[in-house]
Amino acid sequence: MKTAIILLLALKAYAEPPPRTLNSLCSYLDDGKETLSSLGNTKNCFARYLPELESEGATWSQGYSACQKSTITEGQSLLTDATGAQEEIRDAAMGISSFIDQCLALTESLDFFNCFAKMAKLQLANVYSISFNATEQAIILNKKLSRIELEHYRCTNQTEQKYVKGTDAIFGSLDQCLQQNDTH
Ligand SMILES: *[C@@H]1O[C@H](CO)[C@@H](O)[C@H](O)[C@H]1NC(C)=O
Ligand SMILES: *[C@@H]1O[C@H](CO)[C@@H](O)[C@H](O)[C@H]1NC(C)=O
Repeated sequence: MKTAIILLLALKAYAEPPPRTLNSLCSYLDDGKETLSSLGNTKNCFARYLPELESEGATWSQGYSACQKSTITEGQSLLTDATGAQEEIRDAAMGISSFIDQCLALTESLDFFNCFAKMAKLQLANVYSISFNATEQAIILNKKLSRIELEHYRCTNQTEQKYVKGTDAIFGSLDQCLQQNDTH
């Protein structure tokens, strides 16, 4: 039992262990396979396979970071790509805004009314162009974001699967090691 406690403490000390390691180990120890006579050999088995588990954990952590990094990079490049369209829309909107400002600056009533009277005719095309392009850009951006999200999911899922497979194999070997010790 002492061995088990030491091992658990050692596992807990790892940087960011995926929760599975501890759970698997706990359920393994809960099986009560440990007997007093095999305690020394048990220790050897754990000493051999714990570093491998640790290494799997580190690989998982690196893989997960790589997924995060690539998602952030892709997101940034996507936003950079959108900047051009955003500038065009901003310029068009500023044009409408300055047209309105110029009308508002008129103090003569007749000039004022005439200025706003021309607004629809002169600016309607710009308003529609802004609306149309903005809608299109939002759809494109949403599609790209969904693709990045899916890619992120695939990346982390793959990392998770590798970790599960890797730890399963190690726990299998550990189990075998402990069973061999039992028969000695
Ligand atoms: C809308 O998109 C078209 C085609 O890309 C472009 O020529 C036009 O300048 C854009 N207008 C605005 C207001 O963004
Ligand atoms: C995650 O990976 C596993 C194994 O590669 C696969 O069976 C599963 O379908 C994947 N999940 C999704 C939603 O892609």
